[in-house]
Amino acid sequence: MAGLTQSTIGRKFLMALSAMFLLIFLLIHLSVNLLSLFGEEGPFNAASHFMGYNPLIQFAMQPVLIAGVVFHFVMGFVLEIKNKNARPVKYAVAKNSGNSTWMSRNMIISGAVILAFLGVHFYDFWVHEMNYKYLEGLAIDEGRYWEELHAKFADPIRVAFYVISFVLLGLHLSHGFQSSFQSIGARHPKYLKCVNTLGTWYSILIPLGFIIVAVFHFVTQ
Ligand code: HEM
Repeated sequence: MAGLTQSTIGRKFLMALSAMFLLIFLLIHLSVNLLSLFGEEGPFNAASHFMGYNPLIQFAMQPVLIAGVVFHFVMGFVLEIKNKNARPVKYAVAKNSGNSTWMSRNMIISGAVILAFLGVHFYDFWVHEMNYKYLEGLAIDEGRYWEELHAKFADPIRVAFYVISFVLLGLHLSHGFQSSFQSIGARHPKYLKCVNTLGTWYSILIPLGFIIVAVFHFVTQ
């Protein structure tokens, strides 16, 4: 592990693994959120209660997830700084050439916006949840989740900030998805076409799904 973090290739490999882990998390997270579209009587409350009180999810998967998120952001900044230091003189003309797209050169910017979003998002939901369960020790209420989520999206400023973040998330994913596969060595043209197609669909549908959830709760207030 220490060896992997010493070389650029090793760091990119670990970065890609953490990215893939987060790609799976986003899919699960969106699936649960989409259940909220079925309304207060739908399956969202039961699913959220299960996720919130299952000991395996709470005490094994949640810490791993948080470590994965922190690792991904820290490693992203480390790679960016190392890249900049390796190229101390700026290119005279930053041409959009070769396979370097505007997005691939600006992963750090979209990443920083997502990091800001996560700060707000943790405050909105996670901190509230930890307070409810562990600090205030309030009674278990299996029916509260849908109402709590719905109330958050009454504020148009929050909805706008979330939607802008999801658009940036889409841009981040549009490069990050295929880049993570390349970094773990899936470079064969046979796989590349498939990975690119899958990445394009993933980076459109996942953020769009989150946007639908936020806008749905706003317009149904
Ligand atoms: C409309 C969109 C979204 C809604 C309504 C939403 C809602 C929620 C809710 C209700 C929780 C549970 C808090 C808890 O019980 O602990 C949560 C946790 C979380 N969300 Fe989201 N989320 C959205 C989008 C996102 C996106 C796009 C990301 C990542 C870029 C994200 C990352 C997280 C993380 C890392 C957690 C902490 C997971 C945990 O509790 O273990 N969320 N979100």
